[in-house]
Amino acid sequence: MTSPTRREFLGGALALISAASIRLPLWAQTVASLAGAPAAGPLLLGVDYYPDQTPEALWEEDARMMADFGFTNVRIAEFAWALMEPAEGRFDFAWLRRSVEILHKHNLAVILGTPSAAPPPWLTAKYPDIVEVNEKGERLHPGGRRFTCPTNQVYRRLSLIIASEMARTFTETQGVIGWQIDNEFTLGSSQRCYCNYCQAGFQTWLRSRYGTLDNLNQSWGTVFWSQTYTDFSQIPVPLPSGGDPNPGLALDYDRYQSYANVSFQQEQLDMLRKTCPRHFVTTNNVGLVDTINMRDLYEKLDFTAFDNYPGFFDMLMAQQGRMGSSAFVSSSIALGHDLARSVKGGKPFMIMEEQSGKAGQKTFSPQPEKGQARLWTYQAIAHGAMGVNYFRWDTATFGAEEYWHGILNHDRSKSPAFDEIKQGVRELKALGREVLYSNYVTDAALVFDYDCSWALAIQPGHFRLAYLDQIVSWYGAISASRSGIDVIGPEIDLSAYKIVFAPVAYVMSEKQAARIRSFVQGGGMFVTNFRLGVKTETSQIVRTPLPGLLRDVMGVTVEDYIPVYSAKNGMKFSPALAGPDSECVLWTDILQPAGAEVLASYTMGAHAGQPAITMNSFGKGKAVYIGGDLNEASLARVLRTLSGMAGVKPPLEVPAGVEVTVRKAGNKQWIFVLNHGASSQSVNLPAAFVDLLSGEKLTGKIDIGAYGVRVLQS
Ligand code: GLA
Ligand code: ZN
Repeated sequence: MTSPTRREFLGGALALISAASIRLPLWAQTVASLAGAPAAGPLLLGVDYYPDQTPEALWEEDARMMADFGFTNVRIAEFAWALMEPAEGRFDFAWLRRSVEILHKHNLAVILGTPSAAPPPWLTAKYPDIVEVNEKGERLHPGGRRFTCPTNQVYRRLSLIIASEMARTFTETQGVIGWQIDNEFTLGSSQRCYCNYCQAGFQTWLRSRYGTLDNLNQSWGTVFWSQTYTDFSQIPVPLPSGGDPNPGLALDYDRYQSYANVSFQQEQLDMLRKTCPRHFVTTNNVGLVDTINMRDLYEKLDFTAFDNYPGFFDMLMAQQGRMGSSAFVSSSIALGHDLARSVKGGKPFMIMEEQSGKAGQKTFSPQPEKGQARLWTYQAIAHGAMGVNYFRWDTATFGAEEYWHGILNHDRSKSPAFDEIKQGVRELKALGREVLYSNYVTDAALVFDYDCSWALAIQPGHFRLAYLDQIVSWYGAISASRSGIDVIGPEIDLSAYKIVFAPVAYVMSEKQAARIRSFVQGGGMFVTNFRLGVKTETSQIVRTPLPGLLRDVMGVTVEDYIPVYSAKNGMKFSPALAGPDSECVLWTDILQPAGAEVLASYTMGAHAGQPAITMNSFGKGKAVYIGGDLNEASLARVLRTLSGMAGVKPPLEVPAGVEVTVRKAGNKQWIFVLNHGASSQSVNLPAAFVDLLSGEKLTGKIDIGAYGVRVLQS
């Protein structure tokens, strides 16, 4: 692997572009040429590595072993601020350069992380008010990581300085291919900051959002409880007061915190674009987090990079008393992947950190079962990933994450998953870039709207009603239909889909309502449930009967909305949705159809016999309103039946616990079949296929081993 000089590179790139009308961005061309012949895009199969935590005497051996493993790249340095700037304004990149050189010598390309998630002690000692204040108004303490205020100008300036020094130092360094800005924005113990700097930042942001105080006061309804502001400087942040904050203020504060983190990132991104035009730039985050709007975070970055820890997620769920089934874990992980892909409109994404061993800090998950580490890799690829970096190469023997296991054990012996991960890397290289850069194919979409999540968390209506829970359970139910799903924002045009699901679409803008209306009019099926269209974008309640802006599309009026506690309700289904009665344990909307057909009715209490699920014909399409919550099996059956009515077909019929997705490039198609279960499963193939992993020609009934994977092509 040799890196051309800047002039050679630019000359070569221009010639290539004009000869072949190649539209790869500059960074992708650089990386493609570094890793071999120019192709669809770079090969990113690597590992997260910590030379800063490893004796230098081992660097060479590590690089040799990583290259031998088959890795193409590493990510380094994202927490090494104290080593790179040991005192304010004094920089030392010599060690990092030595590390990059060794890695490069072994053909390992380098992704550098900017270190702003872990400011060193000299910095916090000198500038203590860069430290975040939590939602109770208490200032956090340095000593961990991710404890900083996203608005604080001193912190932003010092973060930009260290990142700029790194960028200037490494822009021409052979082997460096890209950047990860910071690390997992907002994923600290306190996910939002409530300090004075944030208050001032919020006020400035409000001024540009609302223009005038009059507009702001009207939009929030501040006349309530005598909260009319006569100067922007009077506007508080939602810290504990004698009563709950204004819902409009609270929703805007969540938006502001997301914006503050994104704009903090933007400063480093602008600098990197100028200083390192040949490098890609991304950041790493995770899917099931709603404290930052991922669409905004990744909008200007080259691609999405998410971290993926299925075993750790399983352990977290158990800690919260929510013991999940393996289907729950695998579908929650798939949801993260589908979000990662959809955040950039379907572009291939990268897993920046993939679990490779026991994972956790104080407590840890078990070692992944034999086959699972490879399975998780393929699950990401099946959902649209182009590359995977494993966390981490060796396992630290010190620090808060010494139990977060890597590919090498503490004593540097091979971890139990070593050979399996190596096998996966070899296989993915053999599969080739065409599949890694192919498109994911689906006719169905699930709307995931941060505004709804934030507004509902401010006023859930029921202590067990949470937007993310609803999204996860709807996603799980839809994925049971095996049709594939995009996870889209409310601003997306829906015409590419046959069916769109939007649970708890609590905040509804006029534009979104118009898009839904024309989608249904044009022949699509829109499926939603309780709390639809309750709130405007400034979190006021609509002044029309619910479901507000979509009442005519849904063909139903919500006469009353009722949280469920001890007085349970149930649902009985019409033949169209036939199945055992279901229980409502969370919510029941009382529905008055205006033209809609009734597909289920309530079974208990004062509203027994009244409509619970309705379907309206509107234009050429259908709109379905599910008035109460359903148990897992009923939700899966109802959503699967509706998908079938909308003409959505699974690529293959498979048993429970087996996942199927399709990726496509031109007229080539890859069908991924993944068995998340601990025992072998069989699948009937409707035609003849080749399994690209084993080379077998397959027809009829085939087996997929425990945690097994097949990649089928006809
Ligand atoms: C995260 C971070 C890493 C590391 C791993 C394991 O997601 O990005 O820095 O902490 O997980 O905890
Ligand atoms: Zn702050």
